[in-house]
Amino acid sequence: SSTQCSYSYEDYKETADWLLEQTEKRPKVAIICGSGLGGLAELLDEKIMFPYEGIPHFPTSTVQGHAGRLVFGKLQGCECVCMQGRFHFYEGYNIHTVTYPVRVFFLLGVETLIVTNAAGGLNECYSVGDIMLIKDHINMPGFAGQSPLCGHNDTRFGVRFPCMSDAYDKELRSLAKQTAEEQDCSSFLQEGVYCMLAGPTYETIAESRALQKLGADAVGMSTVPEVVVARHCGLRVLGLSLITNKVVTDYDSNEKANHEEVLRTTEHRAKDLQRLVSHLIKKL
Ligand code: 6GU
Repeated sequence: SSTQCSYSYEDYKETADWLLEQTEKRPKVAIICGSGLGGLAELLDEKIMFPYEGIPHFPTSTVQGHAGRLVFGKLQGCECVCMQGRFHFYEGYNIHTVTYPVRVFFLLGVETLIVTNAAGGLNECYSVGDIMLIKDHINMPGFAGQSPLCGHNDTRFGVRFPCMSDAYDKELRSLAKQTAEEQDCSSFLQEGVYCMLAGPTYETIAESRALQKLGADAVGMSTVPEVVVARHCGLRVLGLSLITNKVVTDYDSNEKANHEEVLRTTEHRAKDLQRLVSHLIKKL
């Protein structure tokens, strides 16, 4: 891949220390905003923004539709830091580069990571526009040797062989369900398994069927590497997938997965997702 293959503790530390010098904010919550879901960052009060280009060692984003900055501020009175624009593996970033920000968050003192994404629905019971609480994941690139924890293990971040059976915090999921009820989101809230594929192609029909048989409820091209690195260093994780389209699993179907539909659905539900996350944050 086009970016650095590994980073040292000192790299992450220099990035974190630089940020800690630039701002007096000390967020306990970090939010990674998925494609089209960066509007959440706009909701912050008392914003301080750092374009990725200006942050020492930070990867820079090139893709349009992604603002490419860290936004510090208050969401419903709660100090947090948002990534507006994430790094996708399919863009050619090395897997260590994709997850770089998560270790920086850890060194900033962040304790909870909230990740959002757009995903295709594999579960027949899901509708376009549903929000899926991620209960578990399938790390398909990990199966293929693309784990962000491959390589030297620095124990200042975590153990060599981290547990992943509790990756998505039960308590946070429970809070999310409670918040969904209060915010009238329950009718479109689901809970399920997210499968990451590297992309950038959408799935073939055979692939979609295989993923259903594996127990995946939604499929996307992000999130899992960040979650693996977050769990490695002990951050609590909440993941939310917006189901932007139904995955095609039928050879007779004339439907085709396309980015335009993904963007349309995201636009339609972005406000609900923002409301859910911002009211949930108050309870942390
Ligand atoms: Cl259908 N597949 C994948 N891999 N990612 C997606 C998607 C589908 N819809 C949104 N993101």
